[in-house]
Amino acid sequence: MIHATLHQLKVFEATARHGSFTRAAEELYLTQPTVSIQVKQLTKAVGLPLFEQIGKRLYLTQAGEELLSTCQQIFHGLEQFEMSVADIKGMKQGRLKLAVITTAKYFVPRLLGPFCKRYPGIDISLKVTNHQRLQEGMATNEDDLYIISQTPTQPDLDIHPFLENPLIVLAPKGHPLASKKNIPIEMLNNETFIMRELGSGTRKAVEELFAEHNVKVRVRLELGSNEAIKQAIAGGLGISVLSQHTIISEGTTGEFAILDVQGFPIERHWYVANLAGKQLSVVAETFLQFLLEESPAIAKQLLPGLGAPTADEEAGLEKSSTEKSSAEKGGTKKSGSAKSSLKPDSETPVAKDPVLK
Ligand code: PGA
Repeated sequence: MIHATLHQLKVFEATARHGSFTRAAEELYLTQPTVSIQVKQLTKAVGLPLFEQIGKRLYLTQAGEELLSTCQQIFHGLEQFEMSVADIKGMKQGRLKLAVITTAKYFVPRLLGPFCKRYPGIDISLKVTNHQRLQEGMATNEDDLYIISQTPTQPDLDIHPFLENPLIVLAPKGHPLASKKNIPIEMLNNETFIMRELGSGTRKAVEELFAEHNVKVRVRLELGSNEAIKQAIAGGLGISVLSQHTIISEGTTGEFAILDVQGFPIERHWYVANLAGKQLSVVAETFLQFLLEESPAIAKQLLPGLGAPTADEEAGLEKSSTEKSSAEKGGTKKSGSAKSSLKPDSETPVAKDPVLK
């Protein structure tokens, strides 16, 4: 049995993560020599080098890689244990690690407020990123729960749909199509368009629909943020397709108009997911239950018109989960004609907290 202390393993893990003694020292509030002494002692205990230094950067050796994955398992196990102990004592305590797609940032913080009030012992780490990066993150199993709009075939996930996430065509207020009804999708041909970045689930859904109808828009700008796209639309740079959630705060009372284009909204849902077979921590389990139980009521308050999936839609999901036929499943079911709860010029619900935009 190797004689290593927990402290040495923590120092090693931080050094491996940063590839640098200095950065690990900063994170752990230690001096750089303390960090390198701890790593030296651990190396001696293992009997093999753990790092190779090339230039200023440290690279893990094979033994280092093995030790890193062992450390991660140990820390994860200890974290789970701490949460279980708190649970036995009648408290919900620990850290919840959530990773969500960009559009969920408009809703999830609204859910976290009441959740943290009910469980003040729970800390949250919330990562917001696009579909592809979220999927890549699943490989490293860093997060407890994911909120996604399209369910990948890999890795295997346990998924529950919980709220609608429709994609709408957004234009600046005075756009010539803004007053038209039931616009044929072909009329978008040659429209100046602002597109999300590669790897975005929104982009994928839009490209699929346009390809199906042979629509070719002129992409003037590619942007990696829903908020930046909104500003570009308001600035007259073009139209775009975004989740309806992105305009939930301002609706169409201000600078935007939702175009009534056939084939829109693209009907999709948010799903809460975890890696299949992963033992959820007490805290993650508590949040999952909270989300499934409370989100319909919170959504009703904030987003009248957007709802939880119907029983039929859930059944459809169950079916597609087992079929797993195409590269991606779920999330891009299209409706025949445009219907939107945020009608042009209608009074829209105003969520007052600008931080969430
Ligand atoms: P995206 O995902 O940020 O990858 O476009 C958003 C969504 O699918 O709602």
